[in-house]
Amino acid sequence: MKAPQTAKRILSGVQPSGKLHLGNYFGAVKQHIALQTGAEAFYFIANYHALTTIQDAEVLRANTRDVALDYLALGLDPDRATFFRQSDVPEVTELAWILSSVTNMGLLERAVSYRDKVERGIEASVGLFFYPVLMAADILIYRSHVVPVGQDQVQHIEMTRDMAGRFNRTFAEVFPIPTYRLDVGAKVPGTDGQKMSKSYGNTIDIFAEGKPLQRTVMGIKTDSTPQGQPLNPETCNVFALYGLFATPEEKAEMAGLYRSGSIGYGDAKKRLLEKINTHFDAARQKRKQLAADPEYVEGVLERGAKRARYEAQLTMELVRRAVGMGARSVG
Ligand code: ADP
Ligand code: TRP
Repeated sequence: MKAPQTAKRILSGVQPSGKLHLGNYFGAVKQHIALQTGAEAFYFIANYHALTTIQDAEVLRANTRDVALDYLALGLDPDRATFFRQSDVPEVTELAWILSSVTNMGLLERAVSYRDKVERGIEASVGLFFYPVLMAADILIYRSHVVPVGQDQVQHIEMTRDMAGRFNRTFAEVFPIPTYRLDVGAKVPGTDGQKMSKSYGNTIDIFAEGKPLQRTVMGIKTDSTPQGQPLNPETCNVFALYGLFATPEEKAEMAGLYRSGSIGYGDAKKRLLEKINTHFDAARQKRKQLAADPEYVEGVLERGAKRARYEAQLTMELVRRAVGMGARSVG
């Protein structure tokens, strides 16, 4: 039995580890939503992965629901994309175990995201170390071709390619070798100029609004050039964020205002705030409607899980035969 050939299959996951921010949006969510037309897309909420950091059932459940609402509000169309919770396809943990046998310790020891977390003092559980193997299983169990992610996930995709290649050479050609895809917003700066990240406390949340949003935007770190002096757009966080929302013409105009000294940081921040409000206005309304209809959201995830699980079970049948589990051999 051979795996059914599919057209290009796109897959990505997002951890339900807190509120989604502009880094997540421009690095990941935006391209996920754009890619749902024209390809077969699978997107899931990586709650098994989140368990490495969130160990409170109520928080995990609430975050999972929040991410589902965020994606649906931002335009994920469940009639186009298969959208589900990672844990609703438990076969993925079985594949992770099997892949671990073709994964060198050295490969995992080189994982930057693991080392980074350890360096920041996060206690290293076996789960955190094993994280890239589960991520490879996520990708391979759906026989995915393209994985749209932010820059920080690239190494994980390279590890996945390594595991898939080793599995195919050792047992049988079961897995397509996936590639990653980066979007323009591959590294969005946070309010302090470092990479925007929940763990740095420098985020601008997608669904923040009103006063709290205003406070965050007005608090973006800038240098102390006095009002009326030329500003350098190349090194300014406000400009970098503005550029993600603006058209090329608007961006060029803003760069001109910076260089000629005819705009100050305060006004630039106000323009950024306007851009954020306009861009997310419809999504905010939609999110409120969806939040009032939890049954609809649950129905979407359950339908997605059914479809995803069907594909996962097909793959697992091939995998089990290839490694010598079950009675029949590959043929
Ligand atoms: P965080 O760093 O806030 O914990 P995650 O690691 O959960 O974010 O990232 C979820 C997705 O969003 C990943 O695909 C990641 O690459 C992308 N992403 C996160 N932060 C940024 C950023 N500042 N710029 C671009 N993409 C990002
Ligand atoms: N590790 C990813 C992140 O933190 C989330 C993730 C889990 C993922 N499994 C995946 C992304 C599979 C792409 C494909 O963003």
